[in-house]
Amino acid sequence: MYNIDEVRKQFPMLNNKKMQGKPLVFLDNASTTFKPQRVIDKMNYYYTEINSNSHRGDYDLCYLVDNEVSKARELVANFVNADVNEVVFTAGDTEALNLIAYGYCLDNLKKDDVILLSLSEHASNVLPWYRICELTGAKVEFIELENGRVTVKTVRKAFEKQRNVKLVALAAVGNVLGYAIDVKGITKVVHEHNAIMVVDGAQSVPHQVTDFKDLDCDFLTFSGHKMCAPNGVGVLVGKKELLDKMSTFHLGGGMNVKFFPSGEYIPSEAPIKFEAGTLNIPAIMGLGEAVKFLHELGMENIHKHDEELFDYAIKELENCDDIVIYNKDSRNGIISFNRKGVFAQDEATLLNSKGIAVRSGQHCAKMIDEVIGAPATVRLSTYLYTTKEEIDAFVNEIKNGGDILDAYFFN
Ligand code: ALA
Repeated sequence: MYNIDEVRKQFPMLNNKKMQGKPLVFLDNASTTFKPQRVIDKMNYYYTEINSNSHRGDYDLCYLVDNEVSKARELVANFVNADVNEVVFTAGDTEALNLIAYGYCLDNLKKDDVILLSLSEHASNVLPWYRICELTGAKVEFIELENGRVTVKTVRKAFEKQRNVKLVALAAVGNVLGYAIDVKGITKVVHEHNAIMVVDGAQSVPHQVTDFKDLDCDFLTFSGHKMCAPNGVGVLVGKKELLDKMSTFHLGGGMNVKFFPSGEYIPSEAPIKFEAGTLNIPAIMGLGEAVKFLHELGMENIHKHDEELFDYAIKELENCDDIVIYNKDSRNGIISFNRKGVFAQDEATLLNSKGIAVRSGQHCAKMIDEVIGAPATVRLSTYLYTTKEEIDAFVNEIKNGGDILDAYFFN
């Protein structure tokens, strides 16, 4: 296990920051994470020492940048156990999912084909598929949940009900309830039916070991900013044979070998054919550094840390009579709850007044009310630098809550 005090020292945002005049307690890590100094330094290194474009110059600086981008691709590939040419850099998880929708589905889906989703998906894993349905005449159907979860059994049932399922897209870990799905088991069922499995790894890749080859899913997507890397960079991992067949989404410089007056062009090989225009080079370099950092800490350790904090917080919250918890058994660093009779945003605003950052609402998963029967929740989410003391500070304020409006206006 890593030494959390040593880890925290590496994050400028954890250096005695205050919010509302109180020590900052940041419990909104499912939304985004802090960056260690070495990631910030890596981006600064680009801007201050090697600022130039990639794949576009014959001078030394470009050569150094090309090496950095290749190294980052290699680090990311190793991190999720994929081949280097299966890793496409995108602007984030959202762009990666849109790339699958426009690049794969537009060519391969037709009227009355079915895309299976769950009601707990984030907007990024719903709206691109809705658009594909508008464009192709395919339709989205929802997998019935079992106690808020997608399981191998519920997926089998969905396949029994629906013909023509061509694609299943699910979050490996949900961003509101934090439930993990059995990606490998579900992928097996999906493949038995000759469909494609898309895994949204935005909340799983930063928190647990991910083995793309072993999971056998067809596509995996994730964002850098939720795993200590910069904003504006994400990853699409796709099986090479699918990437080779898939159409490009963005067109422009860097992704083609040649184009002709006839209107024809020859695209580069995957993954380069998906990376049109100048890449977000400093963010890609930062992502490589973040992946190195996570690897050094050990993904098993990070996951264990999330689990321990989850158990600790749940034990405390369970003693609060007026708190309703929606995911007592998910153990993935996310707790969604409400105080009886209090609107989630009011609770989050009260916590803000005490220096505690949590998210409230539907967390971009705007069908979650149909799953939990509540219009909104307060969400606490931890990461590798969260301490038990921060959970204590949070629980204390929850216990002090009392009459929430009195507490907010008069404390
Ligand atoms: N997807 C991010 C969240 O769940 C923004 O908060």
